[in-house]
Amino acid sequence: MINILAIESSCDETSASVISDGKVLNNVIANQTIHEHYGGVVPELASRAHQQNIVPVVDKALKEVSMSKQDLSAVAFTRGPGLLGSLLIGTSFAKSFALALDIPLIEVNHIQAHVLAHFIDEPKPKFPFLCLTVSGGHTQIVLVKDFLKMEVLGQTQDDAVGEAFDKAAKILGLPYPGGALIDKYAQEGNPLAYSFPEVSMPELNFSFSGIKTAFLYFIQENTKANSHFIEENLNDICASLQYTLVKILLQKLKRAARELKINEIAIAGGVSANSGLRNSLQELALKEKWNVYIPAFQYCTDNAGMIAMAAHYKYLAGEFCGQEVSPLARMAF
Ligand code: KG4
Ligand code: ZN
Repeated sequence: MINILAIESSCDETSASVISDGKVLNNVIANQTIHEHYGGVVPELASRAHQQNIVPVVDKALKEVSMSKQDLSAVAFTRGPGLLGSLLIGTSFAKSFALALDIPLIEVNHIQAHVLAHFIDEPKPKFPFLCLTVSGGHTQIVLVKDFLKMEVLGQTQDDAVGEAFDKAAKILGLPYPGGALIDKYAQEGNPLAYSFPEVSMPELNFSFSGIKTAFLYFIQENTKANSHFIEENLNDICASLQYTLVKILLQKLKRAARELKINEIAIAGGVSANSGLRNSLQELALKEKWNVYIPAFQYCTDNAGMIAMAAHYKYLAGEFCGQEVSPLARMAF
């Protein structure tokens, strides 16, 4: 039996998961609520919280599945991309674990793992498929040729779409991370109440910094005229912003699918939890005759289950790393 312990610590979630012969057995996650007060993740506080959480989280993951350390075939960890201090905690922990148990070490690319989250549950996409990977740090259209063979076809040239959601939420006075709250208010609002500019980017690339600035000016101007503008129109503001962000994402995804003649389409990453994106994607799929794959909520945002899934395929391919491995804030694949 191949039993792998996987650890995720790239941003503000400390997570551990055990995978056995390719089946993810659990997914223990400790969230860090401390950042809510600061309107964003504070790197130093994140790494301190990882330090406090990592031992209890790993302990819980092993106990939950009645597995002892000696049953493990390998230890996997997120090498990057992410916050260096946060990555360092997971990397050092995994390295010591592997050294003490004399078992192989597997480094995992966080974005590749978001894509491979699609292989945790049924239905699984068929190769080749396109994956729109949308999170707080990334916005990419990825051509997935095989489990470990992926190519980035286009990506954001500035902010990630999750960042646009979170910054807009901050402007509205909502706590961090505000993406899910914008989604919640948007469900009650009119998506066509306001319009925001869409920056046209070449090929399959994206840009979200312009819309973020336009949103800031829009709120500033309107609150100057009416100090209750936000609370009186929160639902419509959120619905209109979300509508524009989702439209930008899906326009490029449609273009990629048509150009490559691929109808297996997946979404991954924290923003794939967005109900507006999920609904519009389903509607577009009917028109374009796509087979659409959307991960379960627990595997959309950061989690070790997806790291475990990626580690399983790397174990099968014999892709291990040495003790000299160090975390990478930016990591391409
Ligand atoms: O994948 P993830 O957990 O972390 C990164 O790798 O960045 O993604 C976090 C991002 C945050 O920007 C958060 O606001 C966003 O995902 N997010 C959402 C929703 N749930 C999480 N954005 C829009 N709608 C949601 N329902
Ligand atoms: Zn992520």
